[in-house]
Amino acid sequence: MSTTPAETTVQAVLTDFDVKTGLSTTKAPLQRRLSAMADMYADQAAAAAQVAQDDVLVYEFFDMGVPSTSGDVAYGTSITYPGKVGDEYYMTKGHFHEVLDTAEIYYCLSGNGYMLMENPEGDWQAAEFKPGQAVYVPRRYAHRSINISATEPLVTFFAFPGHAGHDYGTIETKGFRKLCVERDGRPEFVDNPRWQA
Ligand SMILES: [Fe+2]
Repeated sequence: MSTTPAETTVQAVLTDFDVKTGLSTTKAPLQRRLSAMADMYADQAAAAAQVAQDDVLVYEFFDMGVPSTSGDVAYGTSITYPGKVGDEYYMTKGHFHEVLDTAEIYYCLSGNGYMLMENPEGDWQAAEFKPGQAVYVPRRYAHRSINISATEPLVTFFAFPGHAGHDYGTIETKGFRKLCVERDGRPEFVDNPRWQA
């Protein structure tokens, strides 16, 4: 039997990411405007009014594209822009991994916010994003980035196992158990009245 390792399918790659903005010149980012996620915000009327006035870019991210095997590491940056719908901060759609038992690391490059997480068993957690701080998203936890700054984008670098896959549908249908809203100028996590068990 040969002990020669299987041939790798990718070459070593150097990728540029701007440390402040998170943007890369290597690929086009995937962009999500408010109209693509307006129904995810608690105040539906405020979301519809904002979309009618200006369908702003809420977030964008770079999917650098690696083979979807457990031996590969998918990576990229995520940029969530500042703003609110009603009193709810701008956020990403959020997702579970299709392979639930896969974790992810996010490292905050700039801005301020939270990673909101919940698992199918009912636990939820929120970890603050500050520049220079990494958040470890445990296996089984859906995750969503939330920008709580009034002026600065929230910029993170992420890495996860290449075979994890993305399940957006569960969150699109059920929502997260918690919302992050501004109360007296501070972020607060409150129950999502529209959450479906
Ligand atoms: Fe993820």
